[in-house]
Amino acid sequence: MDSPIADPAAQTGDTLELRDPYPYFAARRREGGVFHGTVMDYSRTPESLRPKDTYAAVSYSAVSSALRNNRVFSSALYDSTIGVFMGPTILAMHGARHKAHRALVTTAFKPQSLMRWEPEIVRSICDALIDEFAERGRADLIREFTFEFPTRVIARLLGLPEADLPFFREAAVAIISYADKVPRAMRASVDLKDYFVEQIEQRRRTPTEDIIGDLVAAEIDGEKLSEEAIYSFLRLLLPAGLETTYRSSGNLLYLLLSHPEQFEAVRRDRDLIGPAVEEGLRYETPLTLVQRYVTEDTELEGTAIPRGAVLDVCLGSANRDENRWERPEEFDIFRKHVPHISFTAGAHTCLGLHLARMETRVALHCLLDRLTDFTLLAEGDPHIFGQPFRSPNSLPVTFDVL
Ligand code: HEM
Repeated sequence: MDSPIADPAAQTGDTLELRDPYPYFAARRREGGVFHGTVMDYSRTPESLRPKDTYAAVSYSAVSSALRNNRVFSSALYDSTIGVFMGPTILAMHGARHKAHRALVTTAFKPQSLMRWEPEIVRSICDALIDEFAERGRADLIREFTFEFPTRVIARLLGLPEADLPFFREAAVAIISYADKVPRAMRASVDLKDYFVEQIEQRRRTPTEDIIGDLVAAEIDGEKLSEEAIYSFLRLLLPAGLETTYRSSGNLLYLLLSHPEQFEAVRRDRDLIGPAVEEGLRYETPLTLVQRYVTEDTELEGTAIPRGAVLDVCLGSANRDENRWERPEEFDIFRKHVPHISFTAGAHTCLGLHLARMETRVALHCLLDRLTDFTLLAEGDPHIFGQPFRSPNSLPVTFDVL
């Protein structure tokens, strides 16, 4: 299988150590909440597309304030970045338009809606995947499990036919490897558009009770959504809902495998699964930063920022802020719960956060129900790396079947 993850050798951040950016973030936080500069690697971005002036928010308080002020720190920036190949999505909208578009899909992502199909869908998807490798006594948990289950969950959520899964999966790999293979991602983006247009037309003829059906039936101010608005939202679910989830569940498994005493505690007491998922999301933030465009001259934690600048909002740094957590550099599932900011805050707070948490919890339950005595193998030197997305590239393990 083609690696779902970017080649680490292709990433060359000159401001950040990709394997462990946290000492860098800690050093910047000691100097203040915001600094003039960037944590992004623009070395492969054409000169004309590089932002002229960049700032970075690194303390929890600066990150949180910026995210809660969408008027001054605007997501419209995404129109000229991810929007170029993903089309107009709620990620880049603001104000009333964002609210109206987001409201259309909010119900589908509410915990009550998700509870309906948790055991039936997520559990059966995870069990089927485990069936495929259990007898072997070894597996790569990234390639064979954490990448596969969110892909299949999204396909089911959208009501896509089972037979289309290979196409959907391949397009997902192409889209999320965007930085490495731009032409392939662009092609996948167009293929997905054509595919979703067909799905939309089918539902216009025969309404269905899935997200595509809901969006086809939806109206804003008495007007139906355009085809482009619908397929752009659906396409967004790949980077937004799949890449983040597979990376966060890979991180959690890596962290548990490398802290065997905490893994054993979770195995003995399943009530620890929830806290383990949250601590995994805090300690290894799957998407370490989001970006905002500064719409007016402003000030953030004592740093003046001019209109037109781009702000790197460093979620990963905020999640290790020593002013908010004791011993932030330790992975500790027993710590007192203090909410992290991996799903951001404010108007663009992750729409899929309940789904992501539920999927990860169910996946861990399934693994623990079926398998035991996991050992992380050293082959390929599995480790968490990358920026802005972080996770291991592979997790080769051996185990016994229960
Ligand atoms: C937005 C993280 C899972 C759908 C976001 C944002 C972050 C995020 C950081 C905000 C981006 C910004 O403000 O610039 C995560 C993480 C996940 C996860 C860490 C898994 C652990 C999901 C899932 C779905 C989803 C499973 C849906 C299937 C969305 C959507 C938005 C979003 C639609 C845009 C919301 C808006 O702009 O109003 N997510 N996400 N996410 N996420 Fe997630």
